[in-house]
Amino acid sequence: MTPQPGADVAAAEAHVAAQRDASVSGSPRFDAVRYDLTLSENPFPPLPSVRAAIEGCLARANRYPEFLPRLLPQVIAEHLGVEADHIVVGAGATGVAMQIMQTLPARGSRFIFATPTFDGYPILANQVGLHTVQVPLDGSGRQNLWSILRAVDERTGLIAVCRPHNPTGTVVPASELKGFLYSAPSHIPIILDEAYVEFLGAADTLDPVELVRRHPNVIVLRTFSKAYGLAGLHIGYGFGSPELLARVRRLQLPFGMPEAAIAAVRASYAAEAELGERILRITTQREVLRTALRRTGIRVPRSSGNFLYLPGRDIAATLTHAGIAVKRYADGSARIAVGDPEADRAVLNALAAPVDPISGEDSHILSLTLRSGPSAVRSRHR
Ligand SMILES: Cc1ncc(COP(=O)(O)O)c(C=O)c1O
Repeated sequence: MTPQPGADVAAAEAHVAAQRDASVSGSPRFDAVRYDLTLSENPFPPLPSVRAAIEGCLARANRYPEFLPRLLPQVIAEHLGVEADHIVVGAGATGVAMQIMQTLPARGSRFIFATPTFDGYPILANQVGLHTVQVPLDGSGRQNLWSILRAVDERTGLIAVCRPHNPTGTVVPASELKGFLYSAPSHIPIILDEAYVEFLGAADTLDPVELVRRHPNVIVLRTFSKAYGLAGLHIGYGFGSPELLARVRRLQLPFGMPEAAIAAVRASYAAEAELGERILRITTQREVLRTALRRTGIRVPRSSGNFLYLPGRDIAATLTHAGIAVKRYADGSARIAVGDPEADRAVLNALAAPVDPISGEDSHILSLTLRSGPSAVRSRHR
């Protein structure tokens, strides 16, 4: 049966809101939220230079931005060293992903991705009327690309692979990804979701230009919400072959990208060194916290994102009790954003006493997590 577009979205939001009301702010048994680590946001506010650039646009806020975005794709394309027709921009990676889902796969076809993953994928798929095929992560929290390939059939209209993966932070090896891309049918569009690519080590980072040249069915999805710390402006882009993106651009929202987005991206590219320092601080904090948490017995997978996945039956509840809002999974595990030393200390303090870690091999880690539930915080569905 073809899904009814939008059918479950309101229900999902209501469920998420109820969860939060019940577990965090609405109950006298719990502290108020002291730290909100639900959405893998960047803990740093915009750099002064970026903020000044954004503020510089506000005086012209009575004017519409460009009808269709021309400047922003140009700025991004120049930065990547390609032509602007290789770039499509949107309201975050979410907006671009939605445009891809609306324009490339046939309505009612199948969208394959790993689970758990970025909550946006099942939600958007439902909104646009795609069937989802959700392939469980392996026991170590990695996407199983061969299982994804095995799920491909003539009904498949779209595939997404995250690198690094949300919520575990794991990274499919470059060689594996390349083998996968060669093996997948070349007529099926593939989203390579690199929302967290800036947190990846240089050795793991792939050349997107080369990748798209070899595989014109791939669209690399990126965002300024994470490493660039601009989630509040919600700017994302897809990088791909001009032919494929011309189809995606057919649903470009007129007047959809504010002028402040262009200014913020320009200023961010001009401040790469400062942003790099922040990334280093976040990843250093991440490693310190992961090491400390593993000492308490929590089998935290190695993460290449700005978040950690904490498997364990009572983890999310324990953190919630301590006033720390987290992304919660059905088995009680949690994903937390990292990088704020104070919040990281609070997490460690809350979990310092061993908290019923899921025992046994790492292969056990995710067995209960596969039925991932919505986040514990209202409308916070990433
Ligand atoms: C893997 C992944 N893709 C895409 C997104 C969407 O990012 P944006 O804020 O640009 O919409 C997120 C956000 O959490 C994410 O985790």
